[in-house]
Amino acid sequence: MIHARIPFRLLCWFAGTVLIASAVKPALADDAQRAKDEQFVALLMRLDSIDLDKNEAIKTKVIGVLERNQGTQLFIDLVKRFKIKDASPQLFKLALTKPNDTLGVEAARLLFDFGQGVRFRELLSEATTADNQTKQNNALRVMGHTNHQYAQSILASMVVDNKRSKQQRTVAVQALGQTRSGERRLLALAQKGQLADDLHFTAGNVLFASLDEKIRAAAKKHIKLPASLNAKPLPPISELIKRKGNIANGLRVMKKTQCFTCHRVENSRVLSGINEGKDVGPALSEIGSKLALDAMFTAVVDPSAAIEHNYTAHHIETEDGEELVGIIISETKEKIVVRVAGGITYSIKPADIYSRKALKTSLMPPNLQLAMTEQELVDLVAFLAALKKQ
Ligand code: HEC
Repeated sequence: MIHARIPFRLLCWFAGTVLIASAVKPALADDAQRAKDEQFVALLMRLDSIDLDKNEAIKTKVIGVLERNQGTQLFIDLVKRFKIKDASPQLFKLALTKPNDTLGVEAARLLFDFGQGVRFRELLSEATTADNQTKQNNALRVMGHTNHQYAQSILASMVVDNKRSKQQRTVAVQALGQTRSGERRLLALAQKGQLADDLHFTAGNVLFASLDEKIRAAAKKHIKLPASLNAKPLPPISELIKRKGNIANGLRVMKKTQCFTCHRVENSRVLSGINEGKDVGPALSEIGSKLALDAMFTAVVDPSAAIEHNYTAHHIETEDGEELVGIIISETKEKIVVRVAGGITYSIKPADIYSRKALKTSLMPPNLQLAMTEQELVDLVAFLAALKKQ
């Protein structure tokens, strides 16, 4: 066990800083200072037990690093290492401003670990005004990403709370859909008949796209299928490649079908410059120079046909019953880093892993073309084909 007591004075200092942070901005670290701070924190992480009370020099340094690096990964690492609960207001702010970034998600996870999940519950119990609607939606999103049991139970209770607006319940459904454990909760609600009719479309989109075949099959029994956009089968690819697509509309289709939750596109030549997306799957910035048209259609319609070995999807279960499905982006004796759809990364200690297996299917959902018309698929591929090297 890590033995790390935080002295009372440090806590007082910290609470004080948080309170006055908005009034007095401490000098932030420049590049050289940040490099030093990073080295120092890396060193702290390797030490087994530190009693800050007995280490005046280290204590002073820790305070300095926290002060200079508010809202950064370094800040999160230190707060986590020393379990600095007094940083909760800062963590809360970070979680609500970066709900779809790893930083915000780690902040939210820490809050739940600190027993501060009630902050989210309180925010959600406030009346929704135009002003705090964004905040509440961000709270729902970041809670979904945390994969934390308590967060998920709050989300599930939002989904079935018919006094809530449809907009808010929809966001709660999508938030649950961000993790495998969340998908299971959503499915359980559908199985118990607790899912309101007006949520079936959203829940269907979430659960029918699950990578878990059992979840997809069970969902089909309990959720009314939305009318499929292509009731008729696709023509053969040899015919599709002859059709003419609209590039600008292809970009709209990319957005609509959530491609950017996994792929980055940075290309300054197409549609007056695009820079969007997350790095879960390969970047598609120059995909038009890599794949021929027919391979492009196959990549979209049948992603598991060819999977690059760097992008093998893994299913990981932790001892706490959390489930993650994503790409392992790094692995050491201390931690395994997994990135899931949406670009959030999770660091897990190998000792906390209950089971782990490589999947034979792509992380990219099958049948994405079901969410498009035939013409939209052609437009999408026209857009991808236009993404050529400079
Ligand atoms: C859940 C994450 C996810 C989503 C959503 C997703 N993809 Fe993918 N995609 C991947 C991964 C991972 C790979 C690499 C492994 C593979 O080939 O299956 C990939 C591969 C590809 C490739 C081949 C890339 C190459 O370099 O060969 C193309 C093209 C592609 N995706 C297009 C799309 C489009 C278009 C959409 C939206 C309709 C989309 N993807 C949605 C994860 C995703």
